[in-house]
Amino acid sequence: MVKTKAFMTNGTYAFLKKLEQKHDHLSFYFMKNHDTLAYYEGIGKSVFTAGRVYDILLSKGLIEKQGFVAMNHIPVTTDGRPVFEERFKQRQHAVETMPGFQAFRLLKPKKGLAYIVLTQWKREAYFNEWRESKAFEKAHNKQSVKQPAYFADRPFLKTYTMIKEE
Ligand code: HEM
Repeated sequence: MVKTKAFMTNGTYAFLKKLEQKHDHLSFYFMKNHDTLAYYEGIGKSVFTAGRVYDILLSKGLIEKQGFVAMNHIPVTTDGRPVFEERFKQRQHAVETMPGFQAFRLLKPKKGLAYIVLTQWKREAYFNEWRESKAFEKAHNKQSVKQPAYFADRPFLKTYTMIKEE
């Protein structure tokens, strides 16, 4: 079975838009933080020269062209990978029933250590509500999540707003 991968890179919107037009079978998802990030899912080789490639381990919902994206980066030691992945297979799936939820992905890096837990929401406020909810607490309050042996470094969160296209 051919596995779908996630591809992303940073750059200026004008440059990334041109690159998208060169590959008319692809549709990029543009998101904005300090600069622009282009994201797409597909098979085969990356069209980005300096991009990042991830295996999509778990997936729920479709990424949409509008909304708010939170990517939690979790650096995991090589030895810790099976334990970490197993935890997610047993996750509680509560996030997908939350108001404003659009998509969830667990992304495994082809290079480097940081997995990404991506969630997309209709608006930032829905993400914040989930962060303050019982469901988030339940998924994260176990000792094994707070002080896991698989941590290679501290996790860090990056958030983005989807760029509305004409
Ligand atoms: C910063 C420390 C964090 C760590 C170490 C961590 C780790 C984990 C782990 C191991 C699980 C699997 C659940 C389990 O073990 O039962 C989980 C669930 C999850 N985490 Fe985190 N997480 C953190 C923060 C965040 C943040 C900020 C987000 C926001 C994007 C996030 C998104 C998720 C999602 C969507 C799930 C699945 C919950 C569900 O299915 O309902 N996590 N996390």
